[in-house]
Amino acid sequence: MTMTDASSSLWSHVPSAPPDSILGIANLYRKDPEKKKLNLSVGAYRDDNGNPCILRVVRKVEQEPAPDHEYIPMAGISLFCQAAAKLILGENASSIAEKRVVTVQSLSGTGALRVGAEFLYRFYHPNPANTEKPRVYIPRPSWGNHRKVFESAGLKVSEYTYFDPVTCDVDAKGLLEDLKNNVPSYSVIVLHACAHNPTGADPSEELWKEILQVVLQKQLLVFFDSAYQGFASGDLEKDAFAVRLFEQSGIEMLVAQSFAKNMGLYGERVGALSFICKDTCPVDAVQSQLETIIRSMYSSPPANGARIACRILNDPQLFQEWKQELVEMSARIQNMRKLLYEALVSRKTPGDWSHITKQIGMFSFTGLNAKQVRYLREKHHIYMTEDGRASMAGLSRETVPMFADAIHDAVTNGDLRSSSL
Ligand SMILES: Cc1ncc(COP(=O)(O)O)c(C=O)c1O
Repeated sequence: MTMTDASSSLWSHVPSAPPDSILGIANLYRKDPEKKKLNLSVGAYRDDNGNPCILRVVRKVEQEPAPDHEYIPMAGISLFCQAAAKLILGENASSIAEKRVVTVQSLSGTGALRVGAEFLYRFYHPNPANTEKPRVYIPRPSWGNHRKVFESAGLKVSEYTYFDPVTCDVDAKGLLEDLKNNVPSYSVIVLHACAHNPTGADPSEELWKEILQVVLQKQLLVFFDSAYQGFASGDLEKDAFAVRLFEQSGIEMLVAQSFAKNMGLYGERVGALSFICKDTCPVDAVQSQLETIIRSMYSSPPANGARIACRILNDPQLFQEWKQELVEMSARIQNMRKLLYEALVSRKTPGDWSHITKQIGMFSFTGLNAKQVRYLREKHHIYMTEDGRASMAGLSRETVPMFADAIHDAVTNGDLRSSSL
């Protein structure tokens, strides 16, 4: 044990953590004094004037006074949990009818993943012959926080092939081969339910079916991450296709849901974690263990956002109004993709930019390399993550030409040109 010098802090040996790859860029943006700067790094919806936006239906529900500010149960508001499970699994899901689903409220999508990860660390040891814990496989690339969330729970994380940088699309062959040949049986695989972050490239319905076959053969445990239901295509049913396909196969799986994007409730931290079990037998035990995990982490979830979501999900009129706003938000994003694509084509910017309109959801994986991204930041005050991901939701009619000019400049500026464009 080393003695600490009484004059220095107990924490003087603590090294600074590296900045978060996404929030670190947002910090740089905040510090930039330039007036005409543009932040495309963070996944938050903006209206056509570039402003944060509160959904009309959320505003409406916010007029209703909260009944009280008491604690809510560890597992959250049960009417919210039931509605969240129905939303993702489908009104007529047999797992719900047969009472094989356990759902707890979570601190948005991240919290659902973290509580699920903790549960897996404690209870998932499917292969008695192997004392090592199963690994968690996330796509390469994946949302920057996935690895950290699972590793924080003590789980080992590896990656499976997902994206082809040449076609800027899902590498279907590579993905299936990797799952078949390199991912050990019983591993946990994280699948983005729709609007894959950061690439915006989703498997086709055919490919989802093939993935399911491999999952069944290898007895993989699927952990779906659904952060964009309804926000990707504007259609809640369509964006739940993969989750429902897997549910209908009868496998056990976990689903993390976020209401940050689709209800615009980012800071309210509204989410849900569901366990879909094979039968009703483990349901009470799973529920009680999830509550134990939640109790020791943060005791109980926040009430306000979940109350709002609960009202919207359970009131047919409010639900219709929400669906209309989902169509509006997703259409605006799709329009930004189209405008950006057209702007690059009209500038004759070298490269094939068709992936911008093919990709779905909030982000486009532009194909710009890290050098080009830095160039955009330093010369044009446009902020994106260094993997070339740009939030299409952060663009507006006014800023598309500025972004297209900057990309054109970066791409045509001699040695900055990326081979993958
Ligand atoms: C793939 C994915 N999963 C989970 C999340 C979690 O978001 P939140 O915790 O804000 O719901 C995000 C947010 O960007 C995401 O993109």
